[in-house]
Amino acid sequence: MEKLKMGLIGVGGIAVSRHLPSYQSLSDHVEITAVCDVNQERVKSVASEHSIPFHTTQYEELFPHVDAVTICTPNKFHAEISIAALNAGVHVMCEKPMALTSKECEEMIEAAQKAQKVLLIAYHYRYTKEARAAKRFIDEGEIGRPLVSRAQAIRRRKVPGWGVFTSKDLQGGGSLIDFGCHFLDLALHLMEFPEIAEVSGATYNELSRQNDIVNQWGTFDPATFEVDDHATAFIKFKDGATLLFETSWAANLADDQETVSVSGTNGGLDVYPLKLYQAKYGMLLDQSAYWISDDENPGIPQAVNFIESCRGRQTPLIKPEEALIISRIIEAIYESSDTGKAISFT
Ligand SMILES: NC(=O)c1ccc[n+]([C@@H]2O[C@H](COP(=O)([O-])OP(=O)(O)OC[C@H]3O[C@@H](n4cnc5c(N)ncnc54)[C@H](O)[C@@H]3O)[C@@H](O)[C@H]2O)c1
Repeated sequence: MEKLKMGLIGVGGIAVSRHLPSYQSLSDHVEITAVCDVNQERVKSVASEHSIPFHTTQYEELFPHVDAVTICTPNKFHAEISIAALNAGVHVMCEKPMALTSKECEEMIEAAQKAQKVLLIAYHYRYTKEARAAKRFIDEGEIGRPLVSRAQAIRRRKVPGWGVFTSKDLQGGGSLIDFGCHFLDLALHLMEFPEIAEVSGATYNELSRQNDIVNQWGTFDPATFEVDDHATAFIKFKDGATLLFETSWAANLADDQETVSVSGTNGGLDVYPLKLYQAKYGMLLDQSAYWISDDENPGIPQAVNFIESCRGRQTPLIKPEEALIISRIIEAIYESSDTGKAISFT
């Protein structure tokens, strides 16, 4: 079978550090035939360094050279470029978050349905070994029915000091839409996307008020820090389950905390590191994963899932309808914070 022809749009940090090496490691199945970036110098140098035959600064010019694209631009352009690619008959993997608004997400889904092409959103934590095993525990009934979950996406003073991450216009928000979204997605996936009843949230923007910034990931100007540095939320589901959520780019806490915990009717689990807790046989049983090789880049199973979905041999692990729900929750957290009210989904 011919190799799938892949294009990369936006060849900055994540394209070059995750997607490009993942596709290169699958070179029997896929070849990168075209790259696009509005930064002429960067796109030229990525094309030349990786011997990619076609490069451009205009994304429309890339479509005739590819079967599929991976979109890694700032969030503001996700919807526009995804819809243009789908309308041109090209499969799409789009970086997270799906788009800036849920309305844009709906338009992307409509374009994918009309074009009958794949639309996969790169919530890559779902492809980690721990997340895949945790989902199997739940699917196989090891914890019973998920009741109470916690999602924590907390970094101690690690605001991305590159790109446009602190621009509200280009990214739509900060720690919540950029980092917290992954752990909301993973929690909802493990809970099997129960219907949402209500979302209450709070977001904070304190760094813009501080002059003496301490940050471990580069520098940024507090005067242009327009987005949230912390966000918290409480989500109630119609089946009675609840999710407590915290995210931060700039926590003043001892350690980074990146995990999801689920307590179910018969057992529970933590995802990172992976642990299973059960109440069984009159005992409390704990199991820890003791062999998880850390050499697997989740970008590889993600790339395989995308390629195989384009070939019609798999379905995307992340459905765009699920990514839309994550965008609706994010919107509700921002709205709840602005209005001081819980947002009802009923
Ligand atoms: N899955 C993850 O864990 C993860 C990690 C980092 C970033 N991301 C996502 O990837 C996207 C890019 O992030 P990044 O860290 O690579 O940012 P970046 O700033 O390093 O790269 C973005 C690139 O897009 C280019 N660009 C901007 N507008 C464009 C347009 N209209 N057309 C073509 N190119 C355009 C820029 O010139 C830049 O080279 C964001 O949506 C971000 O949320 C995801």
